[in-house]
Amino acid sequence: MRIDKHPILNFPKKEPIPFIFEGQHVVGYKGDTIASALHALGVTTLSYSIKKDRPRGFYCAIGNCASCNMMVNGVPNVRTCITPLVAGMIIERQTDKGVIR
Ligand code: FES
Repeated sequence: MRIDKHPILNFPKKEPIPFIFEGQHVVGYKGDTIASALHALGVTTLSYSIKKDRPRGFYCAIGNCASCNMMVNGVPNVRTCITPLVAGMIIERQTDKGVIR
């Protein structure tokens, strides 16, 4: 889901950043947030609502809504739309209370 070629702009390849998403070894790139790396990998469901278990993903993308909260390195409720991706991170989906599904 990344733009590789564009008629006007150049998108040079950036440094790969390996991380783990729900037990799978995957790769993002330098400059990604956690959520942008996951979207580029086709992962659009980042958490689930607590009452109705509805999928949640990007909403505001500026750290204001908590729709993108995920468990990061065992820490719940990390707003992944504004958290830079770091090599070796362990990312998991959660419910709104920080419980892994
Ligand atoms: S999408 Fe709203 S806080 Fe991340």
